[in-house]
Amino acid sequence: MNELQSRKNEALAAIASADNADAVEALRVEALGKQGWISQLLKTLGAMTPEERQERAPAIQAARGEVADAIAARKQALEAAALDRRLASETLDLTLPAPETPSGSVHPVSQVMDELAEIFADLGFSVATGPEIEDDWHNFTALNMAETHPARAMHDTFYFPDRDGAGNRMLLRTHTSPVQIRSMMKEGAPIRIIAPGRVYRSDSDATHTPMFHQIEGLVIDRDIHLGHLKWTLETFLKAFFEREDIVLRLRPSYFPFTEPSVEVDVGWQDVKGRRVLGGDGDAPGHGWMELLGSGMVNARVIEFAGLDPAEWQGFAFGVGVDRLAMLKYGMDDLRAFFDGDRRWLTHYGFSAFDQPTLSGGVGARA
Ligand code: DAH
Repeated sequence: MNELQSRKNEALAAIASADNADAVEALRVEALGKQGWISQLLKTLGAMTPEERQERAPAIQAARGEVADAIAARKQALEAAALDRRLASETLDLTLPAPETPSGSVHPVSQVMDELAEIFADLGFSVATGPEIEDDWHNFTALNMAETHPARAMHDTFYFPDRDGAGNRMLLRTHTSPVQIRSMMKEGAPIRIIAPGRVYRSDSDATHTPMFHQIEGLVIDRDIHLGHLKWTLETFLKAFFEREDIVLRLRPSYFPFTEPSVEVDVGWQDVKGRRVLGGDGDAPGHGWMELLGSGMVNARVIEFAGLDPAEWQGFAFGVGVDRLAMLKYGMDDLRAFFDGDRRWLTHYGFSAFDQPTLSGGVGARA
């Protein structure tokens, strides 16, 4: 046995019997540190003739690999043993009494999603869901955004690493619109769904958070037209804000997945310095605020989802759930929604008994 081998075996034996992390670390420095014996041996390679190097280098590299692996394995074993000891010595007394009044509350986002489900159920919509980790095809291509489409750039997408190297990167869905595609493909037509859920964009300031919530609406049937869209949105917003005087203004707009596309504004009025929704936005002291995007589903999208656009048409809309919650319940900072601050949750949260029902008005009595 040559000297390299016997030193290596010595080191491996020492590592195997080291009984704490410090001892393992000392052995690592001794072998692999800057001045360690293996590092020193590696440095001698530079001065060798190519033939010598070819003969010696594999053995030295192999020794380095073995020692490094042994050190990593020993560290892990010691950590696992330490954890086992801790778990064996620490106990949790499950018989401790719970607080008499549980202090949890329902987050405004959950409350608003429940309210929306209640309103739309009454209009014959069911609730659909889709994955938050989406593929490019459902999030973009099938929604009529080809790879080179400029609208893709507006989405500030979070991509996962390209694991198969073929460019099929997964992503965090940037909107709830891919659920339109999934629902049409799964259920065909006619279909009436809403799809609430989390969406993600790489954007963060007072009015943007990297994760936020949207709700998507989709109706596909025969002979659906813009009038159905307007009536549905009006009915939904009147029920949601619990006011009969909600006035909508539809403006022509552009989304790749709808044609024609309409941006929907809702009238507001100034009530003691606060903007309150309701009333004609054109009246004095009133104004319009942009609330949601919608339109008639683009024939190409219907085709991508496997349906015949000559037979089936429909409308779609997308709206920010957090925004709806802020407008209805008067919060002014979006970021607070996701801070998990108990004081905020106590103030703005809802009782679990506040189930929204249409008969009682969907508004919670906060
Ligand atoms: N997906 C759009 C977004 O996130 C919102 C949207 C606009 C959804 C128009 C729709 C629509 O269904 O018709 O910005």
